[in-house]
Amino acid sequence: MRVRLISCALIIVTLTAPFAAAQKVDLTIDASKAGAKIDRNIFGQFAEHLGHGVYEGIWVGPGSAIPNTRGIRNDVVAALKAIKVPNVRWPGGCFADEYHWRKGIGPERPETLNPNWGGVIEPNTFGTHEFMDFLDQIGAEAYLSVNVGSGTPQEAAEWLEYLTTAQPTALAKERAANGHPAPYKIAFLGIGNESWDCGGNMTPEYYLSQLKVYSRFVRNFNPTQQEKQQMLKIAVGPGGGETRFAEWTEAVMKAWQNRQWSLDFNGLSLHNYTVVNWEKKFASVGFGEAEYNQILKATLEMEGLVSKYSAMMDKYDPQKKVALVVDEWGAWYAPLPGSNPGFLVQQNSMRDAILAALNLNVFARHADRVRMANIAQMINVLQAVILTDKGKMVLTPTYYVYKMYVPFQDATFVPVTFDAGTYTNGNVSLPRVDAIAAKDKAGKLWLEITNVDPNQPAEIEVSLPGITAKSAAGETLTAPRVDSVNSFDAPNAVVPKPISAKIQGGKLAVKLEPKSVTVISVEQ
Ligand code: AHR
Repeated sequence: MRVRLISCALIIVTLTAPFAAAQKVDLTIDASKAGAKIDRNIFGQFAEHLGHGVYEGIWVGPGSAIPNTRGIRNDVVAALKAIKVPNVRWPGGCFADEYHWRKGIGPERPETLNPNWGGVIEPNTFGTHEFMDFLDQIGAEAYLSVNVGSGTPQEAAEWLEYLTTAQPTALAKERAANGHPAPYKIAFLGIGNESWDCGGNMTPEYYLSQLKVYSRFVRNFNPTQQEKQQMLKIAVGPGGGETRFAEWTEAVMKAWQNRQWSLDFNGLSLHNYTVVNWEKKFASVGFGEAEYNQILKATLEMEGLVSKYSAMMDKYDPQKKVALVVDEWGAWYAPLPGSNPGFLVQQNSMRDAILAALNLNVFARHADRVRMANIAQMINVLQAVILTDKGKMVLTPTYYVYKMYVPFQDATFVPVTFDAGTYTNGNVSLPRVDAIAAKDKAGKLWLEITNVDPNQPAEIEVSLPGITAKSAAGETLTAPRVDSVNSFDAPNAVVPKPISAKIQGGKLAVKLEPKSVTVISVEQ
C-alpha cells in the first residue's frame, strides 16, 4: 500500500464556499494489487447500559405505545438492519464489570444501581434474552463482555454454559424455561473492559492472572461453534498512547506468545476516543471551523495508534493471528445542555460524518490487523448512529456514513495512491482529502473519497490501470455547515444524495462538495 499524504504548499484560496475554486486531486487505483479483506466486523456497534442507549433507545417494553416487537423498537430495528450491523458489544463498557447476568433473566428482575452512569436505577428488564432477541431481529452477532471486575470466573463460566450448552444441564433447562431451548451462538467474548481503569485499576500482571483464569473457563459449548465459527476471545488492550498502555500491550502479547495450550485469545482491544481537551470538551452543536478542524486533526491520531500497536503485536505475533479490536472509538463531546451529564448525550453533525469516514478508512488500511471495531455508542450516547426521543427517531450523519460503507463490508482492500494536499485553519493543518478503495465479492470496484476541506470543492480524477471502466455512480453526504445536524424537527438535513461521476478517457472524474463523504461504484 502506498498512500502518500503529502503536505504540499498549495495556494491558499480565501474565497467563501459558493465561489471557491476546486482543488484538483489525482488518484490512482491499482486493482491488481489487492490487499486484505476489510472485515465486516469493523462496522460493529456498542450498546452499553448507559443513559438512553438501551432503555428507550432499544427497549421500550411490550406494553409501550411505540411500535415494538417483544419490547424492542421496530423503527430502530429497521434502521439498524439497513446498515447491516455485523455485531453489537454489550452490556458495557464500565457497566459490564459490575453486571451480574442472573439479575437480567427470568420473571423476577431486581432493581439495581448503575453507579457509573448517573447513579440511576437499572431495572434489568433488558437482559440476556432480550439482547439476543434484539440481535436476532437486526441480524447481528453477539459480542458479550464478561465481568472480570466485580464478578468471578464461575459467574462468567456459568453465563456461557447457560447461553451455549445443548446438553440438558440445570442451566440449559433454566434457559429453556426462560423461553429459549436452543443454545445461543456467541461470536465474540470480551474478557474485561478497561481493566486498567474503570474495570478494576489492575496492573498488567494482575490482569494477566485474571485473563488466564477467565479465558480457561469461559467455554462455549454450542455444538455449531466447535470446529467452525469458534467464539473469539478478546483481551483488554491499550486505551490510548500513554506509556502505561505500551507496557500493558507488551505484557499481554508476550503472554500470548509464550502461552500454554490452556491460554488462548484471538483479539486485543484498543479504546480511543476523539477529544481535544478532556477537562473542557468541545460542544457537539453550534461550533465553527476551528473546532471542526481541531477535532479532525485529533481523530487522525487513530492512524498513529493503530500503527504503533500493530507493530508491537507484530513482534509477538508476526502471522497476525491476534486481531486488533478497536471496540470503543468515536467523538466524545460535552453533554448537551439540560441533559444528565452521566448520560453522555451529544448531537451528531456533518463533522462527525467526516470523522467516522476518516476512522473507518484507517481501519480499512490496516485490515490485516484491525478485524473488528465498535463505534461508541449505537443509540443516544456519544457518537450515536441513532437518536430517539420517545416515539421519534432520527438517523444521524454518522448513520449515513455506515449506510454508504455497506459495500465495503468483507470487500477486498485495493490500494489508492494520491497526493492529499493540505487543508489549514489557523495553525492546524490536515490532509485535504482521504480515500480508500475495495473490490466486493462480485468483483465490483468501490471508491470512497472524503473531502475534508469545508470551503473548497475538489476535482477528482482517478486513473484505473488495468480496468476498462464503463460507468460510475455514487452518493455523497454533505451539508450547508460543518455543524449541520439532523434533528427531530428537521430529520433530513444531512442525507446522502446521488452524485454524478463520469468516465472520460478511461479515467473517473467527479467533483466533490466541500466537507463531503462520497462513495462511488465503477462498472466494468
Ligand atoms: O463509552 C463510555 C465509556 O467509555 C465506557 O463505559 C468505558 O469503557 C469507556 O471509558
